[in-house]
Amino acid sequence: LRGEDVIVVSNREPYIHQRRGERIEVHRPASGLVTALEPIMRACSGTWVAHGSGSADAEVVDKNDRVAVPPENPAYHIRRVWLTPEEEAGYYYGFSNEGLWPLCHIAHVRPIFRSSDWTQYVAVNRKFAKAVVSEAKTKNPIVLVQDYHFALLPKMIHDELPDATIISFWHIPWPNPESFAICPWREEILAGMLGSSIMGFHTQSHCNNFVDTVDRFLEARVDRESFNVSFGGKLTAVRRYPISIAWPPDPELLQKTVPDCRSHIRQLNDLPPEHKLGIGVDRLDYTKGILERFRAIERLLELNPNWIGHFTFVQIAAPTRTGIDEYQHHEAQVRALAARINARFRSRGPAPILLKIEQHAPPQVYEYFRAADLCFVSSLHDGMNLVAKEFVAARDDERGVLVLSEFTGAARELPEALTVNPYDADQCAAALHLALSMPEAEQRDRMRLMRGLVAEFNVFRWAGRMLLDAATKRRRSRVTD
Ligand code: G6P
Repeated sequence: LRGEDVIVVSNREPYIHQRRGERIEVHRPASGLVTALEPIMRACSGTWVAHGSGSADAEVVDKNDRVAVPPENPAYHIRRVWLTPEEEAGYYYGFSNEGLWPLCHIAHVRPIFRSSDWTQYVAVNRKFAKAVVSEAKTKNPIVLVQDYHFALLPKMIHDELPDATIISFWHIPWPNPESFAICPWREEILAGMLGSSIMGFHTQSHCNNFVDTVDRFLEARVDRESFNVSFGGKLTAVRRYPISIAWPPDPELLQKTVPDCRSHIRQLNDLPPEHKLGIGVDRLDYTKGILERFRAIERLLELNPNWIGHFTFVQIAAPTRTGIDEYQHHEAQVRALAARINARFRSRGPAPILLKIEQHAPPQVYEYFRAADLCFVSSLHDGMNLVAKEFVAARDDERGVLVLSEFTGAARELPEALTVNPYDADQCAAALHLALSMPEAEQRDRMRLMRGLVAEFNVFRWAGRMLLDAATKRRRSRVTD
């Protein structure tokens, strides 16, 4: 990769500058994407184009809106793109998160399609395309476009830089053609994405859905042998690249022993030393199935009253997209359900659900993972779900049970988890009971297999495989030129 001209585009930036009184602080948000792509950016002194979102972001950039990062040892640049409040409302809150997000996740939340949001989405994609073109040092850069905020960007870049190799990755599921059909701008979105040289998804079924959708709505040639799509004279390879986490995990996160984590977390939450503990960690998003999770816990206690007063589930829920009505409504529902279930069982010992609606830093989250007897991931639909993989990474003691929704990409890779349908409260309750009663030897066997898989298919392999495929494409196009 050395010597290549590499540009990454994502909505979120890898470093954010914030003003705190007299001082400017810079922090790196906990992000799997940054972990995966930063080594590449360092190796080729690349450029990361992202929305400038920090309160002091504008104070530290040069006249071209660029800043060198990482701060302690600069090796590449962020190019910041500024958005007006109207652009952010229409492009981010509106079309991306009230339109495309519910459109692509089967969570039975209706997408909202406002033409004013679409106008901003188009305008912001164009703004980013301009930034990418102006950052390109050569006529054939490698551009890595991240996620559903930028469906139109690949075509916009391709129109300006036809020799660029554009690898796009869609981090959320892709729905079937019937579901996707309701989007009023379906053809534009598909055509935009097909500006990519490679279009990546987490699972083969998302690739299949995408190819079926293209076949249904565009005059494209679809080759189901090679999984290539030819549209408007451009060839796009549709490929599966399941995302993952860094491996080995940061040793600092595993420093405190499991027995220390167990006793500290129980003390912290006023729970007896031998109390059984479950953990859930999510953004407070309706796709994560937090309500279904709580109902499953209630069902567990109904069916197995022995656990009442002896089992507590800690739900860490990070506030997210709080400007959107549906998210405010969801938070109220989550709070109310936890309160109702706790009121029902509290008289017989510690509350069954501890709901913590706040951000937790990775060391705190890992301490909970290591203290828990089980982790419950009940997403209604999820592209991958990295919490499942992080729980596995946290358990170097090879103990703890993962209860995992079958509607996550992760379930395809981790069959040793107890897989469940989150809509089936009885089935989930049975899985929770099994998890709480599972012999240590079985926990170890399952955890060992899952750890082996995450270790091998880590996030560096995710990025590496995409770049390798891109390199092969570039070599071929040089030969055929
Ligand atoms: C999902 C998306 C990411 C997004 C993240 C957090 O994982 O695929 O692109 O960054 O959610 O959401 P937010 O809206 O806070 O960026």
